[in-house]
Amino acid sequence: MIPLVKVAMPPRNVLMPALEDILYSGMIAEGEAVYRFEAAFGSHFGLKNVLALSSGTAALHAALKLSGVGPDSEVISTPMTAEPTNTSPLYLGAKVVWADVDPASGNLDPQSVRERITPRTKAIICVHYAGYPARLAELRAVADEYGIALIEDCAHALGAIYDGNTIGNVGDFAIFSFQAIKHMTTVDGGVLAIKDEKHMIAAKKFRWFGMLKGVPRTEVDIDSVGYKYNMNNVSATIGLTQLDYVDRVIERHIENGRYYDNELVNAPGVDFAVCDAYGQSSYWLYTLLTDSSADLEKALVGAGISASKLHRPNNLHSIFKSSQVALPGLAQFYSRLLHIPCGWWVDDAVREQIVSIIKKG
Ligand SMILES: Cc1ncc(COP(=O)(O)O)c(C=O)c1O
Repeated sequence: MIPLVKVAMPPRNVLMPALEDILYSGMIAEGEAVYRFEAAFGSHFGLKNVLALSSGTAALHAALKLSGVGPDSEVISTPMTAEPTNTSPLYLGAKVVWADVDPASGNLDPQSVRERITPRTKAIICVHYAGYPARLAELRAVADEYGIALIEDCAHALGAIYDGNTIGNVGDFAIFSFQAIKHMTTVDGGVLAIKDEKHMIAAKKFRWFGMLKGVPRTEVDIDSVGYKYNMNNVSATIGLTQLDYVDRVIERHIENGRYYDNELVNAPGVDFAVCDAYGQSSYWLYTLLTDSSADLEKALVGAGISASKLHRPNNLHSIFKSSQVALPGLAQFYSRLLHIPCGWWVDDAVREQIVSIIKKG
């Protein structure tokens, strides 16, 4: 089977010596490798105030806390995502309020977000679903109008571009995930990028039990709740090595995504996701849209090509029962959705085969 997602590891002969060095260095917890990774990731992807964490979920939890989200808060979010986007507000006792998605992309519809704002709204989480940037300019305008934080969940979108900048530069906070199957993995890990430097101390405390590194343990005073959310030097070493290879990985996702866009633009009965004119996808997944998604899925799987919807709209989970609301855009998008393989492991022959199956219908 050609898989829909696949782990990308740097070459063994490069990674293993680096890992061996760090594993036997006597310094495997948070330390210099983590701080070097933060600096390198920030400069590679044009992001400021980067903090490395144990997961993208930890980064979401931190971003929500720093946005002032608490037990009486509402967080407006998209149901069209992986679950951690929406379980993280629950850690803080907040209510998730669904906004509808744009059926052309599966991303938040800014008008629907605007309609859901109440005096309790503290944050908007937008996901660049499958790697396609959300309508950030409009979401930023809504957030600014109401004085609400905008959090960009960039877990799918490493390497995407918005308005000439790398993704993650519009929100007050942006999070990235280095979980196994993302464009870039550190086995597990994540990054929080913070627009306003004033949050850095609180963010550092949040990631390590409420304490600041460097303050002697016999003198340090905990004055806020923190977690065991730090990245360790072993994950950071994988991350540092990955940075030498990630551009080529992302480039091939983009080459394949654009190939499909070009090939399918006039194919009858099939559309594909589009983002607004300011956005360029990094195609973590390729998002096909067709009224016959079930039949096409069968045809592709029958030919040895994985294809699926991959995610379950999060509003369907029992834990979100009290958030139910009509979401016609989501219903339309999800019924037509089919993800097809598009990553670095898809070679020219495979992508031609996929296109020919889709064109046959
Ligand atoms: C959209 C999205 N947000 C957040 C996360 C959470 O990232 P992590 O698995 O690193 O905690 C994931 C991935 O699992 C994701 O796909």
